Amino acid sequence: MAANGLDVAEYFYADLFARDPQLRRMFPASMAKQHEVLIAALSQIVSTVDDPDALVPFLTDLGRRHHGFGVIAEHYAPVGASLLATLAYFSGPEWSADLERDWTAAYGVVAKVMTEAAAEPVA
Ligand code: HEM
Repeated sequence: MAANGLDVAEYFYADLFARDPQLRRMFPASMAKQHEVLIAALSQIVSTVDDPDALVPFLTDLGRRHHGFGVIAEHYAPVGASLLATLAYFSGPEWSADLERDWTAAYGVVAKVMTEAAAEPVA
């Protein structure tokens, strides 16, 4: 997945904007920078998945910034669906029901921490 980084981002955003065209206008016209920052953030999340002391503050900050971008809780479902579709596509035959279950659960935690942080006042 990491080796295919930018292709992954391109696939992800194409899937997302086909799934929910209204989301397109939230992003800049040129998506090159966005592709890079998405892959960097996903790498950071995956590499700290077993380290809540690092992961939770990262997601809290990211969630608060997303609040500032106009992202609301309902936006997390289509993004999660596109992320799962992207992972399935690039995993090919290695994709399995177990992986789908684990990634769905992991994304659910990420989305929960981000949306809860967005709802809380900054301490
Ligand atoms: C796993 C969940 C997500 C990750 C890892 C993620 C990652 C990022 C990153 C790294 C940035 C760059 C700015 C920054 O770091 O503050 C960003 C910006 C942005 N994200 Fe997300 N994001 C996620 C979920 C979402 C969702 C659910 C939406 C809703 C549509 C969204 C919409 C946006 C928008 C609109 C921007 C700003 C684009 C701009 O104006 O430059 N993101 N995201």
